[in-house]
Amino acid sequence: MVATTTSTSEGWSSRSAFILAAVGAAVGLGNIWRFPTLAGESGGGAFVIFYIACVFLLGLPLVLSEVFIGKAGQTDAVGSIRRVAAQSKASPSWAIFGGVGALAAFLIVSFYSVVAGWVLYYAGIMGGDLVQAILAGDPFRGALAGESQDQIQQRLSDMFASPGLLLGVHFVFMGLTLYIVARGVSSGIEKAATYLMPMFFVLLVGLVLYGAIEGDIGQAAAFLFTPDWSKLTPQVMNSALGQALFSLSLGVAGLITYGSYIKEGSGLGPTSALIAVADTCVALLAGLMIFPIVFAVGLDPAAGPTLVFQTLPFAFQTMPGGALFGFLFFVLILVAAVTSSISLLEVPTAWGIGERGWSRPKSALIFGGGAFLMGIACLLGYNVWADVRPLGFWSLFADTDILDTVDGFTGKVMLPVGALLTSIFIGWKADKNLLLTTTGLSPLAFGIWRFLIAWLCPLAVAIILATGLFPSILGT
Ligand code: TRP
Repeated sequence: MVATTTSTSEGWSSRSAFILAAVGAAVGLGNIWRFPTLAGESGGGAFVIFYIACVFLLGLPLVLSEVFIGKAGQTDAVGSIRRVAAQSKASPSWAIFGGVGALAAFLIVSFYSVVAGWVLYYAGIMGGDLVQAILAGDPFRGALAGESQDQIQQRLSDMFASPGLLLGVHFVFMGLTLYIVARGVSSGIEKAATYLMPMFFVLLVGLVLYGAIEGDIGQAAAFLFTPDWSKLTPQVMNSALGQALFSLSLGVAGLITYGSYIKEGSGLGPTSALIAVADTCVALLAGLMIFPIVFAVGLDPAAGPTLVFQTLPFAFQTMPGGALFGFLFFVLILVAAVTSSISLLEVPTAWGIGERGWSRPKSALIFGGGAFLMGIACLLGYNVWADVRPLGFWSLFADTDILDTVDGFTGKVMLPVGALLTSIFIGWKADKNLLLTTTGLSPLAFGIWRFLIAWLCPLAVAIILATGLFPSILGT
């Protein structure tokens, strides 16, 4: 071990605390909102199976790589990479990808909080509706009784048209994220995860059972797991790869940062596998929660990003207990979003602490405040700045509003670049002995890992990057 003078003194209190926090980071809007949306739009089974292959062949080796860098480095992402590079006699410039990651995490949390704000608003609507149902003596009635489908859909447009409302919910969500991160690793992030993740799993299982009883789970399972390979177009593969990176929180040094708070103990292999398996199970369960409800009411699974906000509330209206379960549904998404947004804000915050020497509250306030302002630009893009196209000069983003530009640029450019550099660094530069001793892998597992991270990951991620940037390669 090299000198540990700049090491953070903070850390997880146990191995299970790290696992809960890392699963909490992975499980988020990506699982419950983005995955069903993409699976629905891409026609189901073939997408899902290809996605699972991406998670285990590309995602898992990358998870292990990031956790390794953090555990070996014991400080913020930039410092950790620099330390691993020094121990491997590689150039210190590799640390740049930690900085790019911190910037990407900062940009992602800015719009993530805006979207989570919508969820908060819907939790409020459904909560108010539930209270009314209870007051009316009929707590198990359907949601939003008496509203037409048009009226329900109108709620989303009305929300987008109101900058004040969007700002308010964004403020509340970002404030909560900032508060937890400012409290620190063990008394903030870890505590949030240990309360919220069990609550999340109870809600998830409850809602899956509800969907199974009240909805059409047979049709949902057939939709999600019966592959129609003709639907596996290059675009679908590309979006499945990108979704695997996003869902596992890869490419922005998030798991480097969380890994750096692992104090001792080996066994990074099983821990990483658990994170990947848990995240994938949650995505599949989210599909098995949402689609039975969608099919039961005869709605369109390919509705796109509004599936969760317009389609589902309508479905909950026609189902018994819909007022209650609709409310619980939005609470579930909210819980998942909080444990993810804290992991995002933690990356730049740790950078400020480790590289700039700021106190934790100061660093959290600077980046949380900055991301809040950035998020305001994103939400104004739905109303007063609806015509603004930040990267309009670039054909890829020519017709993309502010939020989607930040989302698209981070997801299509920064995340794959981060993952590409991580795989090259680990596959080709990092010292073998350091890798072996820090991860504690068996020789066989180590060999497989090295093969995947050195060959398959760079290749596959380079393809996502190239086709993401130049969609014409795919013939679109
Ligand atoms: N994985 C989270 C989700 O699925 C989002 C997230 C958290 C994330 N940390 C990240 C995405 C880091 C990319 C990079 O919602």
